[in-house]
Amino acid sequence: MCGIIGIAGDQSVTNRLLDGLKRLEYRGYDSAGIAVIENNKDGDILKRRRAQGKIVNLAERIKQEPVDGVLGIAHTRWATHGAPNETNAHPHFAGRVGLVHNGIIENFSQLREQLKGKRSFQTQTDTEVVAHLIDEAMNTGMSAKDAFANTLKQLTGAFALGVIIDGIDGTIFAARRGCPLAIGLGDSENYIGSDAMALATLSTRVIYLEEGDWAIITKDSVEVFDENDTAVVRETTIVSTSMAAAEKGNYRHFMLKEIYEQPETVSHTLTHFIDAFHYKAKTPKELELENLDWRKLERLSLIACGTAAYAAYVAKYWFEQLALMPVDVDIASEFRYRKPALSKNTLAVAVSQSGETADTLAALRYCQSKGLQTAALVNVLESTMAREADFAMPINAGPEIGVASTKAFTSQLTALLSLAIAAGVQRGHISEEREHALIQSLTQIPRLITETLKLDKDIEALALDLSKAKSAFYLGRGVHFPLALEGALKLKEISYIHAEGYAAGELKHGPIALIEEGTPVIVIAPSDEMFEKTVSNMQEVSTRGAKTILITDAKGAKHAKDMADAILICPEVCPETAPIVYAISIQLLAYHTAVHLGTDVDQPRNLAKSVTVE
Ligand code: F6R
Repeated sequence: MCGIIGIAGDQSVTNRLLDGLKRLEYRGYDSAGIAVIENNKDGDILKRRRAQGKIVNLAERIKQEPVDGVLGIAHTRWATHGAPNETNAHPHFAGRVGLVHNGIIENFSQLREQLKGKRSFQTQTDTEVVAHLIDEAMNTGMSAKDAFANTLKQLTGAFALGVIIDGIDGTIFAARRGCPLAIGLGDSENYIGSDAMALATLSTRVIYLEEGDWAIITKDSVEVFDENDTAVVRETTIVSTSMAAAEKGNYRHFMLKEIYEQPETVSHTLTHFIDAFHYKAKTPKELELENLDWRKLERLSLIACGTAAYAAYVAKYWFEQLALMPVDVDIASEFRYRKPALSKNTLAVAVSQSGETADTLAALRYCQSKGLQTAALVNVLESTMAREADFAMPINAGPEIGVASTKAFTSQLTALLSLAIAAGVQRGHISEEREHALIQSLTQIPRLITETLKLDKDIEALALDLSKAKSAFYLGRGVHFPLALEGALKLKEISYIHAEGYAAGELKHGPIALIEEGTPVIVIAPSDEMFEKTVSNMQEVSTRGAKTILITDAKGAKHAKDMADAILICPEVCPETAPIVYAISIQLLAYHTAVHLGTDVDQPRNLAKSVTVE
């Protein structure tokens, strides 16, 4: 995961930037770099040092060729667009501008096209174009502030940015859209950091930028502007240094923080599984899964528990549709005891956030004992499953602290969809053009999640009603059926309201008997080919007194406007990636319902984060 740190002060910054980068090492990275404005007799000069690999390599580089100043930015990069080499490492330079970036600039290729002939690009990154846009705007006579604000308006995607400019003394420009960014306040010194950990030891007074905010930071001042460029005052939070790694920041609960982190965490997952620069799904070789060949596999067996199992159920649809590969999904606690008939050319994939869940681990070992190839799709790369499986595939969502899984779920989905696309390509069922379109849709997910997060207030209001219910139903079809199961699980585990998820067409085969006046039914139905059918099922429960909440897009909302009691309008999203984006709304709904009820959201009763017993 990329990390950002920046210092605007009047003391030397290089060593402290390196320290900050070391504190960000836990996020994982493959290159690192720093840029400073060096003041010497010839005036200010923007300089940088970068290195592939570990921060010790960067420190060594700086030792060989020292750079220092009182203003600097630094970055650990986890490659998304372009290979993890020194050329693609941040900070990126364009003219007078030096820039670090977390996240994905979705429209980078259109922006590069716009600047064709005017600018020459040195890297394969989505980031470099942003530095060029700022420099180009200043060349037209704009002030640095206007050039920065103007550039932000041209960007599509989810990002956090830190910028320094040669000739603009002592100033860092920073912005946040989708990816978190914090400003640390010091004495005669101020900082930026991608999280409180980056700022630990530098500052305990932190301003967390809000969505769409941007800021100008000098050693004595911090000015924050909202997405409309209006100056705003954001609250200062005191953080405890020792707890910085596990800080909730401005969030009331870890679960909410983790829900809001998803534009960034999904970006990190994408980083690992796709080559966004070339719009390609990474081949097994690129994923360092040397002996894996999707063409040789006849079946996929996905084994998991709880939320991870629902991610696997969604993936079944993807692998079957995109790669024409038969998929079995098993709840791990059932798997080995039913003595499954396993065929040799099966890849067994354990899907697990922790990589330690006892039943999933036992299932993985069972598959190994039967001679199957095994893989572990995990969030914790040091976990037992990752160590024991033939292939370890990290989802890179970062530590998940809330007991109810949120960001790991969307990262599991993102990883599984990327793998399904790769399998489809390798097995010859996805054309180059379709692959390109699918990968483009994947890179849009962080932005679409950011847009969905804007529904937070509406969802909070709907949750008030839901919190008064004794029981609720979630309905969906196709990939949204497992999402309905996940919605119900989220609600019951943190709000303690009884909830069930059903395939929308299945309700009338029994459970509809439970619908009575006022029973909440949450219907997940983007305007895809199943929409009409799902809406018919919604009407079946409506006429029996259910109070329906339809989660759909603008087109669906227009069509069903008088049919549901409430409608949540999610952004337009392609059918394959829809469950990843729609997951956000069901997570927020469960979260706010639980908050209304005053439960212990992060540590719900009777639950443990990692279930290491059968
Ligand atoms: C639900 C939840 C659990 C876990 C399950 C598997 O919010 O967190 O259902 O998904 O216990 O855990 P992992 O993924 O660690 O194997």
